[in-house]
Amino acid sequence: MARTRARGAGGALGWEHLAAPDLRGRTVVVTGASDGIGREVALHLARWGARLVLPVRNRAKAEVVRSRLLRKTAVAGADAVRLVDLDLADLGSVRRAVEEIGVLLEGDRADLVSVAGVVSPRRQETVDGFELLLGVNALAPMLLVESLLPVVHERVVLVTSHAHTAGRFDPADPHFRRTRWTLPRACSRAKLTAMQWGLDLGARMPPGTQVQLTHPGWVVTNLQNASGDARLDRLVTTASRPLAMTATEGAAAVLFSLTQPLPPGSYVGPDGWQHLRGRPTLIRRSAAALNAEQAARTVAWVRREVGLDADGPTSG
Ligand SMILES: NC(=O)c1ccc[n+]([C@@H]2O[C@H](COP(=O)([O-])OP(=O)(O)OC[C@H]3O[C@@H](n4cnc5c(N)ncnc54)[C@H](OP(=O)(O)O)[C@@H]3O)[C@@H](O)[C@H]2O)c1
Repeated sequence: MARTRARGAGGALGWEHLAAPDLRGRTVVVTGASDGIGREVALHLARWGARLVLPVRNRAKAEVVRSRLLRKTAVAGADAVRLVDLDLADLGSVRRAVEEIGVLLEGDRADLVSVAGVVSPRRQETVDGFELLLGVNALAPMLLVESLLPVVHERVVLVTSHAHTAGRFDPADPHFRRTRWTLPRACSRAKLTAMQWGLDLGARMPPGTQVQLTHPGWVVTNLQNASGDARLDRLVTTASRPLAMTATEGAAAVLFSLTQPLPPGSYVGPDGWQHLRGRPTLIRRSAAALNAEQAARTVAWVRREVGLDADGPTSG
C-alpha cells in the first residue's frame, strides 16, 4: 500500500533494512491504540505520516496517548489523531462508533487495523450476553470491520494469535454456557473464530482490497495481567520480560502486515521458535483456520449473533 522514502522510523521492528513506509495522505483506523501493541502500531503510523482514527474504550487514557502521538506525527493539525468511543463488549457502542467513524472520514477511505483484545481470569459476559473473550476478540470486531467495509482503502489487518491452533469452535455451546470455561480454551476459541472470519472475509473483500492476519508473538503487555491476582501478575510480567518481546517488537508484525507487499490473506508472525519471538514472516496457520466450509459456518453464526443479517441475533 505504501510509497517508500528514507528508511528508519526508529524502534526495533526487525525490518529496518526495508525502507520505511510513506503513509502521507493515508488514514488508518486502529483499535486498541490506548495501550500495548496497538499504541506502538499507532506511534509508528503517526511517524510515517498517516492520519489516525482511534476507537478507544478509555477516553482519558487515550487522550494521553493522543498527546504523545500529536508530538510524534508527521501530519500537521490537531485532527491528525482523532479519538472515537468504542467498547467492544457492547454492540450498541460498536454501532455508534461505526457511525462516528463514517462522519469523521467525510467520504474519505481508510485502512483498518483491529488490534484490541482482552483476557480474563474467569468467565464473564459482554453487555449482549456473549462470552467476553469471544465477544471482544472476534464478534464485535467482526461487526465493526464488516460495517466499515465500504470505506476500506486497501487493507484490513486483523490481529489474532497463534493460540488459535489449539482452538475448537463448539456450535452447540459457543459461549461456554454449559461446558467448562478455562482461559486457554476461551482464548483459543476466540482467536480461531477471528482466523476463520479472516479467511471468509478475504474471499468477500471488495476489489482492490485485502485482508491480512497477524500473530504479534509473545509480548509483554497488560495482557499478562490475567490471573486476577496482582502479585502473581507482577511475577509473571517480571519473569516474562527478559524472554518475551517488547510492545514495539510486537507491533512489528502488525505494521509489516499493513504496509508490506504480501499475498492477500497472508498470516504473518515472528519467525522464531514456536513463533514466540523474532522478525515478521509468513507463518503457517492451523488446518481449522484454513477450512473454508467450517469458516463459512462459523461466520454465518457470528453474523446472526451480532445482527449483521436481517434475521437478527440468535442465542447459541
Ligand atoms: N501480548 C501478547 O503476547 C499477545 C500474543 C498474541 C496475540 N496478542 C493480541 O494482540 C492484541 C493486543 O494485545 P496487547 O498485548 O497489546 O494487550 P493490551 O496491552 O492489554 O492492550 C489491549 C488493548 O485493547 C483494548 N481493549 C480491551 N478491551 C476492550 C474493549 N472492550 N473495547 C475496546 N477496546 C478494548 C485495551 O483498551 P484499554 O486501554 O481501555 O484497556 C487496549 O488498548 C490483542 O488482540 C491480543 O489478543 C497479544
